[in-house]
Amino acid sequence: MTLPDGYVFRKLKLSDYSSYVENLKVLTTVGNITIENFTKLLNYWESLPDLYHPYVISSPAGVVVATGMLLVEHKLIHECGLVGHIEDISVSTSEQGKKLGYYMITSLTSIAKEYGCYKVILDCSPENAGFYGKCGFKQCGIEMSTRF
Ligand code: ACO
Repeated sequence: MTLPDGYVFRKLKLSDYSSYVENLKVLTTVGNITIENFTKLLNYWESLPDLYHPYVISSPAGVVVATGMLLVEHKLIHECGLVGHIEDISVSTSEQGKKLGYYMITSLTSIAKEYGCYKVILDCSPENAGFYGKCGFKQCGIEMSTRF
């Protein structure tokens, strides 16, 4: 599958600050993230390049229209196996339905596979289960959480 003309799948960069923060508001509460907060966090992610893999899809205008994070967990079990975790998938409301979400998930999954992960997991709401099913994921187990 290819992206529409002019759209690019790439790593997150500092100049994405405004549109990255704006895009994630489609997913959940973001709060007040200053450029200083963003710079510090991006520097932190970039200091751990084996763990954090933040990606975006940008529009022909260079604006972030989709986000996705791949975390690669280095485990002891499965002979020090690697597990990919997909987080923070968000497609701008006006860009939904163009297969950008599908492109983001299948790309992050391929990166995880190339990296050597033996599986990729994610949590989602029941409303999005059909979308992840179309991206090749199957339901296994149930999510448990404690909130503070
Ligand atoms: N339920 C069932 N099927 C869906 C859904 C859904 N909620 N959303 C899309 N699909 C289908 C599409 O119809 C399409 O099917 P087709 O191939 O038969 O035509 C296929 O899934 C691919 O759809 P895309 O166009 O790639 O979907 P889109 O780019 O709109 O992205 C997404 C879907 C990510 C759920 C988007 O609507 C979104 O950002 N929603 C708000 C934020 C959100 O809920 N993010 C997911 C959080 S979970 C996480 O981060 C791990």
